[in-house]
Amino acid sequence: MTGGHWGHRERKPDVSYDSQADPVTILAECAESAGVSPHITPFSQTGTLRERLAANPFLMAPMAGVSDAAYRMMARAGGAALAYTEMVSVAGLHYGSEKTWELVVPTPPEPDIAVQLFGSKPDQFREAARAVASRLGERLALVDVNMACPVPKVTRKGEGSALLDDPQGAADIVRACLDGLSDAGSDVPVTVKIRAGRRTGEDEVAPRFAQAMEEAGASAVAVHGRTASQLYRGEADWGCVARVAEAVEIPVIGSGDVRGPEEAARMLQETGCAAVMIARGTYGNPWCFADARTLVEGGEAKTHDLAERLAAFACHVRLLDATHAHLARSRSLAGWYFRGLPHAAALRDRAMRCQTVEEYLALADSLMEIAREGA
Ligand SMILES: Cc1cc2nc3c(=O)[nH]c(=O)nc-3n(C[C@H](O)[C@H](O)[C@H](O)COP(=O)(O)O)c2cc1C
Repeated sequence: MTGGHWGHRERKPDVSYDSQADPVTILAECAESAGVSPHITPFSQTGTLRERLAANPFLMAPMAGVSDAAYRMMARAGGAALAYTEMVSVAGLHYGSEKTWELVVPTPPEPDIAVQLFGSKPDQFREAARAVASRLGERLALVDVNMACPVPKVTRKGEGSALLDDPQGAADIVRACLDGLSDAGSDVPVTVKIRAGRRTGEDEVAPRFAQAMEEAGASAVAVHGRTASQLYRGEADWGCVARVAEAVEIPVIGSGDVRGPEEAARMLQETGCAAVMIARGTYGNPWCFADARTLVEGGEAKTHDLAERLAAFACHVRLLDATHAHLARSRSLAGWYFRGLPHAAALRDRAMRCQTVEEYLALADSLMEIAREGA
């Protein structure tokens, strides 16, 4: 394989694909070459939440602007036990925006989904939990409350990580969600996602805050081991995840700096958490969930060759198209799936110029051909 090929060969977008295919068909067609499962296993229904998480402890984290339907499908086909929606505004659901509703309704082949809500008013949480449970029925796996988002636009309104300063208000929100679910005849768990604290340098609030959420009726607590003031920078403190796991009886889901399957397996082993949420570590790596499971079961880490990566990229782009997502999302995907390839920057440039699904697929196809020639 010669270097020049990677950056410069141009091909006409002559890739034919069925633009009418639905996501179930696309996944079935692409799964084998992309190294993922053609079917998604529903979230375990047996036993307590801790037991259900133990059946497969690797979860796709909520990520605003990222964890859309296509992303969740790839993650679950790649072995995630469950995938979260991005954070969804209870006020948005209250005012009935169909756009907001699109964020919470799972798309087949997704059998079920974890819905993450954010807001500050218990009444709106009650109403949102009731409405989501009524609309999703059996497809709702759990309701999670965002108490972690550090963005000022959110915290200014007393939402997201601002709730860490208001354990009473946060407890009211948990109870309101439980009430709303019960009104809809649903008994799915209510969980919360928190950070180590609001401000670096202050006392760590997470352990006693988690206890308050447990008392209010939360079934699990996810802990991102950074403070809100760290945003997404600096190191996540896994010690904080361990201290919360010590402090509560309910299962703890660890988050932060899980860059791939090795860290996912290590977090599970080192912190005493019941499950691990993988966020940025999933970029271009839908296999990380199954690979993490292989590691905890004593197997060897898998490598994913170029052909598999390109096939997974193509599959992901087709799923984006089939779920009517903005095609611009394919650009980030290209950056992630092509990371580490020779001439990755040139490839990203080419991806930036793609305007249609065909052009993205043709790009993947031409790289595949060059890889074959060079093999
Ligand atoms: C782009 C992006 C969007 C995110 N959106 C959300 C969100 O909507 N809700 C939430 O609870 N956390 C959100 N997070 C936080 C992640 O779920 C996770 O807790 C955090 O990134 C730490 O994990 P990491 O260091 O392994 O990426 C987001 C993170 C990123 C990078």
